[in-house]
Amino acid sequence: MSLATIMMLLVLQIITSLLFTATASSSPNGFTIDLIHRRSNSSRRLPYTDQLGGSPYANTVFDNTQYLMKLQIGTPPFEIEVVIDTGSEILWTQCLPCLNCYNQLAPMFDPSKSSTYKEKRCKKSDQSCPYELIYGDGSYSKGVFATDTVTIQSTSGKAFVMPEFTFGCGHNNSGTLSPNTSGIVGLDLGALSLTSQMGEKYYGVFSYCFSAKGSSKINFGDNAIVSGAGTVSTDLFMKTEKPGYYYLNLDAISVGANRIETLGTPFHASDGNMIIDSGSTYTHLPQGYCNQVKEAVESFVQADRVTVPDVQLLCYNSDSIEIFPVITMHFSGGADLVLERYNMYGVSRGVACMTLVCGDPTQLAIFGNRAQNNILVGYDPSSLLVSFKPTDCSALWS
Ligand SMILES: *[C@@H]1O[C@H](CO)[C@@H](O)[C@H](O)[C@H]1NC(C)=O
Ligand SMILES: *[C@@H]1O[C@H](CO)[C@@H](O)[C@H](O)[C@H]1NC(C)=O
Ligand SMILES: *[C@@H]1O[C@H](CO)[C@@H](O)[C@H](O)[C@H]1NC(C)=O
Repeated sequence: MSLATIMMLLVLQIITSLLFTATASSSPNGFTIDLIHRRSNSSRRLPYTDQLGGSPYANTVFDNTQYLMKLQIGTPPFEIEVVIDTGSEILWTQCLPCLNCYNQLAPMFDPSKSSTYKEKRCKKSDQSCPYELIYGDGSYSKGVFATDTVTIQSTSGKAFVMPEFTFGCGHNNSGTLSPNTSGIVGLDLGALSLTSQMGEKYYGVFSYCFSAKGSSKINFGDNAIVSGAGTVSTDLFMKTEKPGYYYLNLDAISVGANRIETLGTPFHASDGNMIIDSGSTYTHLPQGYCNQVKEAVESFVQADRVTVPDVQLLCYNSDSIEIFPVITMHFSGGADLVLERYNMYGVSRGVACMTLVCGDPTQLAIFGNRAQNNILVGYDPSSLLVSFKPTDCSALWS
């Protein structure tokens, strides 16, 4: 295949990877961010199972650059698959009647067929409550806020039902979403995210295990605690200027045995310098520090460089990612993550690239979903911790 095709592929992947971070949203009725109740004593066992003693969960699938979660909406329940996005807040899905929608293969949600669907009223005007989400590349979803029953599964064997769940019914949606997805589910710290709307008794605790090879699960509450041999944890930070995001603090990256500290660079921090975002494909770092990492990779690799115009990825003429050194991410508190080569590198038609994007220092640094492949990742905002456990994710629940 021609290099132009590869370039298109890479450009598309970068656009997709930038999609799901920065979102602007208007909340209905002036919802505010709930304060997270920090657990008073994390060694105490907490009652965050559902009424039947189960933990909520949902099945996930990989779709080229994104991980999708299956959930049901409405009465009778209508199944949708939506992008799992820890970098945004709102659940939205394409809704009939569609004024302007991207191509979606599965049938679209029809609110008129759901007996529990209710359009939200804005408090002030008593009119419908419009929303508009705008993503980094100009993609958007516009529609009205509504409530309906959202259902996922539970380890109890009974459905886990969330009545009157606030979501966006999108009637005008455009962008680069895959035809296999019906929208996005936000899992950030905002009041309208899935974890927030599940209720306080789950403490916002969830974990996922992404595998590019097969299906997996996202767990909530009790069953989402990540522990046991091989688990490492790092502090979770929240920032008042960007209240929804899960910030981690990256201290250093090792390229093979060459440890490159953030210390001495503008990227260095002790209260969080990058977000963890399941909705971004690639990992993004600010240019200065990022180039140091790239240079270390360059000095290791023996193959011939290929320059791909408009894509600043580091690429070589090679059929194999084995030419590249192993990358270790050092998060603060001694959480060292030795990554598989797939997590940081990719190969397409004889060109092997490092999937690290060096961005403008004003943009957020992002720990993306590809780098999280084959790691059980646990978010625990109540204990202000994110935990990682290297795991064969496709084998975990099969
Ligand atoms: C937390 O609970 C453990 C076990 O019940 C107890 O030993 C410890 O003192 C408690 N810590 C605090 C800070 O309350
Ligand atoms: C996405 O949809 C296409 C067309 O139906 C299908 O061939 C492909 O396998 C789907 N991808 C995933 C990951 O399901
Ligand atoms: C959809 O939204 C876009 C962007 O705001 C707007 O330009 C366009 O007119 C809208 N399309 C329809 C059919 O309402």
